[in-house]
Amino acid sequence: MGQSHPHESARAQVAGSAHYIDDLPEVKGTLYAAPILSSVAHGRLNGVDATAALALPGVRGVVLSADIPGDKLLAAFAHDEPVFAIDTVQFVGQVIGLVVADSVMQARRAARKVKADIAPLPAVLTVQQALAAESYVLPPVFVRRGDAQAALDRAPHRVAGHFEVGGQEHFYLEGQIAYAMPLEQRQWWIYSSTQHPGEVQHWVAHALGIDNHAVRVECRRMGGGFGGKETQAGHLAVWAAVAANKFGRPVKLRLDRDDDFLVTGKRHPFAYDWEAGYDDSGRITGLKLRMAANCGFSADLSGPVADRAVFHTDNAYFLENVEIASYRCKTNTQSHTAFRGFGGPQGVIVIEAILGDIARALGLDALDVRMRNLYGTTERNVTHYQMAVEDNILHDLLPQLERSSQYRERQQAIAAWNAQNAVLKRGLAITPVKFGISFTATLFNQAGALVHVYTDGSVQVNHGGTEMGQGLHTKVAQIVADELGVPLPRVLVTASDTSKVPNASATAASSGTDLNGRAAQFAARHVRDNLAAFVAGLDGCGAGAVRFEGGQVISPKAARDWDAVVQAAYANRIQLWSDGFYRTPKIHYDKATLTGRPFYYFAYGAACSEVAVDTLTGESRVLAVDILHDVGHSINPAIDIGQIEGGFVQGMGWLTTEQLVWNGEGLLTTHAPSTYKIPATGDVPERLAITLWPEANREDNVGGSKAVGEPPFMLAISVYEALRNAVAAGRAPEAQGPVRLTAPATAENLLRALGRLEA
Ligand code: MTE
Ligand code: MOS
Repeated sequence: MGQSHPHESARAQVAGSAHYIDDLPEVKGTLYAAPILSSVAHGRLNGVDATAALALPGVRGVVLSADIPGDKLLAAFAHDEPVFAIDTVQFVGQVIGLVVADSVMQARRAARKVKADIAPLPAVLTVQQALAAESYVLPPVFVRRGDAQAALDRAPHRVAGHFEVGGQEHFYLEGQIAYAMPLEQRQWWIYSSTQHPGEVQHWVAHALGIDNHAVRVECRRMGGGFGGKETQAGHLAVWAAVAANKFGRPVKLRLDRDDDFLVTGKRHPFAYDWEAGYDDSGRITGLKLRMAANCGFSADLSGPVADRAVFHTDNAYFLENVEIASYRCKTNTQSHTAFRGFGGPQGVIVIEAILGDIARALGLDALDVRMRNLYGTTERNVTHYQMAVEDNILHDLLPQLERSSQYRERQQAIAAWNAQNAVLKRGLAITPVKFGISFTATLFNQAGALVHVYTDGSVQVNHGGTEMGQGLHTKVAQIVADELGVPLPRVLVTASDTSKVPNASATAASSGTDLNGRAAQFAARHVRDNLAAFVAGLDGCGAGAVRFEGGQVISPKAARDWDAVVQAAYANRIQLWSDGFYRTPKIHYDKATLTGRPFYYFAYGAACSEVAVDTLTGESRVLAVDILHDVGHSINPAIDIGQIEGGFVQGMGWLTTEQLVWNGEGLLTTHAPSTYKIPATGDVPERLAITLWPEANREDNVGGSKAVGEPPFMLAISVYEALRNAVAAGRAPEAQGPVRLTAPATAENLLRALGRLEA
């Protein structure tokens, strides 16, 4: 632990020899499915005519809701989503059924020939329409502390605003895929590219009307998940299994990229209306905020996502008098879902935008204003959900980044540049992040693992987490190698498998290593304890005196090779494998009032971003970024820095180029890489300098580490604030009030903010 090691399958992935589900050798008799999609946003489904499709070569048949042997609704927690559309369709792209054929292309061609008879009904396509119609997937949630209205009435200054941030397509490189295989006696083996094999198991069993124990789900790795395979992978697995059940054959379902865009949910777009009161120093005294999430047609994970947005509206700042209303709007679009940050980014951006507006209104430096609003260490340190912030390091971290990035000097240089250049305007901003770590649903914060030591001394680990590129398996292997004192190559992590560790939570909320790493550490510790007792018996010492290091087992009397000890222990019938179980301590939370200690600890960080905007074309570039980020004592610095780079650049994409456009009929028109732009290599800032904060996690967490998967995503909000600063320098001198910049800050939106294109 603590050393940089390459990702456990980096070489295999680069060589093309790492298996994704579509690379697995196919079982004889495998059939292929393609989805039949609704072309109407909302309507009555009167029937389906598949005659033309069935006439095509290789077509075996269609699968519709009537073919589902179990529940026709998915086993999702709100139970509000049909497996296949039943008698209504609720968005363009909803899956009505499947065509099953002898090849993928035959199935896809035939699926387009299926005619669905749909009578259109009025559709709700925007958050504004949903709010007006009180169209919600879940009831609104209100959180209050203090008296926001009274604080606003008393405040020396007030500022109000409305703004919107867009959603985001996950754009995992491996699209959604499932391969369902019927086994003997109504048992099933499902290969699924999923962050949550246990949920896939449960959903498939529920749809087939069988027990969970009859379904085994396996996932060696995903080619990216980013939250998009937390629930959405389950749909594909259920669809493939229902088809496989009908035809008694293995069925593979791999979505074409355009269909993947049209079918699956994305990051929730948000709309905000807010009013803040503040004093002459820029300190917020009162805040009223209405945040509305576009959830799409069903609840999916919208409840916890919108909750996390509420929990992160403070970001790093003490809000003494605050009133938040959170609306979970139902629209006739894809059902939006988890995406890196899980609502956190949509909470953080609004308070950062407000602080940016306040600083500009007062003519103060925005970093100074942010520092004045930070949580205190002994007072002003309780969140609006009643959790004390006990581990705040931002009072040290922010000034350090301010110095190392030469923030003050560069602000002056940029002011001078902007004074001299009429067209190209620059902007610079530092924003912090404080991100709560733990699933807010307390029960998910548990994990299990198995450690097997074989007689040759090699070690196999299996745990409930999944690998999506984030390096979880590598870190878990390091933790186990450390615990047993063996070299890393002796430890192999195997595919996630519901028949090995049951009831595992999704790999999500950045807590994969915290949970599964600890469970694996405990499992390894049990085996080590068995071996230590064995050696202590041989050498007549206490078991506590036996150490495991450098591939050796060392007692006060003798040093023996690990392999030899394992062989001798086996010969003496000592158990060489064990399970481990971990649950996060200290956390609790009342769902009704949204209060308690939902998080075990916070991960912190800050970024300083410099941008340039061409005020004539609206084009922009991120020029230089300095990041100081807190991962506690890093288990693997190379992987952690990779997560920070990836998270930051993905956040940049969300706020700059990745724009989802639905047309007036509810069709997502940006459903391919030709029209939807994720950051490319050339968009990565030339300078992207990352430093890790050196301090260990103050809570007892595996190896002293902190979670890293999601928090850096929100560091990209510094880019958005830098862009707004550049716009402030570039708009007409008579322009008054806050800079209104809709995110993503595309060229068009920047021109609008500059007042050079109509709103
Ligand atoms: N990194 C890669 N390469 N691919 C991914 O899909 N998902 C992110 C993050 N980093 C992701 C990633 C998300 S949304 C989460 S919640 C975490 O990884 C999940 O893994 P962890 O809990 O092991 O950090
Ligand atoms: Mo990550 S959005 O919690 O899968």
